[in-house]
Amino acid sequence: MGYIGEREALPVLISSLKRLEYRGYDSCGLALLEDEIAVFKGRGRIEKLQQNLPPSPARIGIGHTRWATHGKPSKENAHPHLACNGRIAVVHNGVITNFQKLKERLLAEGHTFTSETDTEVIAHVIESYYRGDLLDAVARALKEISGSYAIAVISPGYDGIIVARNEIPLLIGVGEGEFIVASDVAGILEQTRRVIYLEDGDIGSISRGAVRIFNNGLPAERREQQVPWNIEEAQRGGYKHFMLKEIHEQPEMIDEMVKRYISATGVKFEPGLAGGTDFTDILLLACGTSYYAALAGEHILKKLGQIPVHAALSSEFNYSDTILRKTLAIAITQSGETADTIKALREAKKRGCPSLAITNVIGSSITRVADATFYLMAGPEISVAATKSFTAQLIALYLLALSLGKIDPAFQKKLADELRGLPQKVAMVLTEEEKIAKIGRYLAVCDNVFFIGRGLNLAIALEGALKFKEICYIHAEGYPAGELLHGPLALLNPMMPVIAIVAPDGTHDMTLTNIKEIKARGAPVIALAPEDDSEIEKYTDRVIRTPQVNSLFSPVTNTIVLQLLAYYTAQERGSPIDMPRHLAKTVTV
Ligand code: F6R
Repeated sequence: MGYIGEREALPVLISSLKRLEYRGYDSCGLALLEDEIAVFKGRGRIEKLQQNLPPSPARIGIGHTRWATHGKPSKENAHPHLACNGRIAVVHNGVITNFQKLKERLLAEGHTFTSETDTEVIAHVIESYYRGDLLDAVARALKEISGSYAIAVISPGYDGIIVARNEIPLLIGVGEGEFIVASDVAGILEQTRRVIYLEDGDIGSISRGAVRIFNNGLPAERREQQVPWNIEEAQRGGYKHFMLKEIHEQPEMIDEMVKRYISATGVKFEPGLAGGTDFTDILLLACGTSYYAALAGEHILKKLGQIPVHAALSSEFNYSDTILRKTLAIAITQSGETADTIKALREAKKRGCPSLAITNVIGSSITRVADATFYLMAGPEISVAATKSFTAQLIALYLLALSLGKIDPAFQKKLADELRGLPQKVAMVLTEEEKIAKIGRYLAVCDNVFFIGRGLNLAIALEGALKFKEICYIHAEGYPAGELLHGPLALLNPMMPVIAIVAPDGTHDMTLTNIKEIKARGAPVIALAPEDDSEIEKYTDRVIRTPQVNSLFSPVTNTIVLQLLAYYTAQERGSPIDMPRHLAKTVTV
């Protein structure tokens, strides 16, 4: 965060930092530019730091909320970091890869360090070049610094803020007589919706009334844009947690998406595929929850698009030697900033693939890497655990599959009609909230939970397990139901419930067989099953009924059930649901 304007900087920094906390929340701090620099920092959340802050007349300041990479979460390691003379303060997102070498040189030159972070070297390198011109010193310092960064720098010698970006998002909000620097739009929305996105290699000097941006030493033109989100969307709006709000937003979100691309005459989904539709296969690249959307997408696209598809974890793809010929590479990423996914898409492009990004965040880094972008338009997702963005990714993949036009037109129309009815089915799941919450309260005492699924719903079982790990802090495993006999069955006991996804498709009978095998080993079974599955109750301990949908769309309704289940289990366990320990919303490192 950074602020320069006519108002007192402190309250703006505090409220904007609170909105950016989902990016990291193990420690925080701020620096205010008065005659000298006043720094306040501490371990934990902004709210705690705020309690001990004296008022300040400063009209310029920078702030940071940290997700530790180098050095444990502590007051010393919290940003901002100062140069030896205390007159240069820096906040930084990213990783400086050559910091050790720089630190050794600086130590030899007599600099002293107070933290274990890579960030602190930035302040000292700038100091070593400072001859009265902060912009010049930052530009020279960055020539020596390798790695990824978004930085904001202040010094009493300069009535403004210097910012710079390389591979890490950074933007400048343009207000009335003020500028707000932030890592993402959530940090500026309360003040303004006008924004300038910085590009890699940009260095900006933000003074009163003017922003000047340079790239490679030359002035660079960066267009001001309007953020399509508003502050209400980024607020909890009466819900106890963002996660619950975001779960409840799903029927409307799907409805808007479907209406945008499906009309009475058919599917009009043109993600602007570079190279047309002349590709022989598809590679889906993603991490975490987005990877599970990719896994489900692999099934959906193979079935409806009738095309070879491979879903790969971005972090692993970078080590693979997969030969790509006429392959369409699709990166799926809510934030558009996940470092591994950006790197994987770059690699696929290097190997000659046309590329598409499916993302939720306008102007995010992935959009500058991909040949074309499809925006999910799911609205801001603040909860660290992804919910509505996952569902939006699934819908995008259905639309893409239907638009490939490889299936019989009558079947395509039938599916398109059913997609239009999906929001109502999702709303029906939400009416079961209290029943699902009750099962969540029962699960809250468990230390281990298994999730099983087959076929299209395997990805949903994996996603359900991820949610349980992430927000309930319960050890959870998602497993292909057919694989239990090959080892994991040995783990089962009466204190290890198994959540089984029973879909009305070719996997139904085999999943039922697996459920019987599990019951015979004494583990309780909770099944997710459609309303008309009359058999299921005989073999399970509890059943969560899901609305009747075409089995192809059952991943969507099953996902909503598992999101609610994780939410209420976490609530019963007293977890900090929106900001789980050790995690951050955007993994830019
Ligand atoms: C889990 C979760 C993460 C993200 C992952 C990828 O709930 O949110 O696993 O899905 O970090 O993030 P994006 O989609 O932004 O690339």
